[in-house]
Amino acid sequence: MKKILFLLLLVPIYSQAQSISKPDSISFHKKMQWFKDAKLGIFIHWGIYAVNGISESWSFYNGHISHEDYIEQAEGFKAENYDPDYWAKLIKESGAKYSVITSKHHDGFALWNTRQGDFNAAKASAAKRDVLTPFINALRNNNLKVGLYYSLPDWSYADYTHHTRNVERYKIENEPKRWNNFLNYSQGQLKELRNSYNPDLWWFDGDWEHNAKEWEITKIKSLLLENNPNVIFNSRLQGHGDYETPEIGLPVLRPKAEYWELCMTMNDSWGYQHNDKNYKTPQQVIDIFVDCISKGGNLLLDIGPKADGTIPVEQENILKELGKWTSRHKNAIYGTRKGIPYDHFYGPTALSKDSTILYLYVRDKPADGQIILKGISNKINRIFVVGNGTLLEHQVFCHVYWNKYPGVIYINIPESVMDEYYTVLAIMLDGKIDLYREYTGALESN
Ligand code: GLC
Repeated sequence: MKKILFLLLLVPIYSQAQSISKPDSISFHKKMQWFKDAKLGIFIHWGIYAVNGISESWSFYNGHISHEDYIEQAEGFKAENYDPDYWAKLIKESGAKYSVITSKHHDGFALWNTRQGDFNAAKASAAKRDVLTPFINALRNNNLKVGLYYSLPDWSYADYTHHTRNVERYKIENEPKRWNNFLNYSQGQLKELRNSYNPDLWWFDGDWEHNAKEWEITKIKSLLLENNPNVIFNSRLQGHGDYETPEIGLPVLRPKAEYWELCMTMNDSWGYQHNDKNYKTPQQVIDIFVDCISKGGNLLLDIGPKADGTIPVEQENILKELGKWTSRHKNAIYGTRKGIPYDHFYGPTALSKDSTILYLYVRDKPADGQIILKGISNKINRIFVVGNGTLLEHQVFCHVYWNKYPGVIYINIPESVMDEYYTVLAIMLDGKIDLYREYTGALESN
């Protein structure tokens, strides 16, 4: 009886959890397909903060510069060397399948010519033009999916609650009309973006400042779904998103979420900061990317263009090097699914969508030219080097006919086939992967 009572008590909690959990319908998984297969996206933080090279929005919010001086940067935002077609080509060359650009960050500066207020690239900056539209067009021309980053908070807008860390203009309960003005303004902007660009993905940010009811998340979502019922939402919507967005922290354990994307800077800044030279090397960026692939997620790698519209040379170089690696390893990247437990291979792995090909990512040259794979019950049809085609020899040890233990596989990798970043081996199996998950071989007969 006690047990039943306990279970009954659990019911409301469980159903509540169900109602806030992600939709699990066939159509939901269908809409998420392109995203799941894409693996690589390029994030772009571009705004007036690139003029002084200071942190995007946070620099005035945290009092490192006055709001007035921060806004003045707009006079230096000229975008005189901006070449949106080149941006899109470079993104394509990197191997990314989508890009997410800051249409408006927390500072409220809009890259497009919004009819809601004047604080935008066309009306308030030296660029004197809409800089968003040509980039969106270039993305589409290059067959890349379009993602729009949009900050829910707007710290410059007079009717928004928060201005800086120390200045809160008002509380919603005291001035509901003011809050309503703000909602009309930001929903007006969202409708403009929806109508002009019909994005494939919305990347919201800053949801921590208010709850879902205050933001009117449900209303916003239905507005944005009007034009495109398959549009994807990131998670920063107070629990109403479609996928998780860990930031900077490369997951150590495999995330439980089916859909996730790690957003990551190339140095330590989202926007352009001339002082920040702490760049990851192409190898390190590819390390992060391979880890995301093997854990079944995407990497959204950030660039921060300069105020003149050029992409810093270090960032350009990373994109190009990444492109060399992705172009050689397409089959082992796009459309793959998370790999196998590390008990079987001491490194990152992934599976083809149908689970009949196991990809092994080999970062360093094995000392004796051999790598080890364990507990694969399938028959191995062939092993080859992805992007190179060389067939590789393998030996099986510790395998006896009288039990099911599949043995230990040694694969020889000649030095001549080693890639400068990651060598990828494709293990072609006789069917769906069948992992042997026992402690050891049972003594079935002897
Ligand atoms: C954070 C920051 C922001 C940055 C974003 C990228 O939430 O507020 O500056 O744009 O993360 O993920």
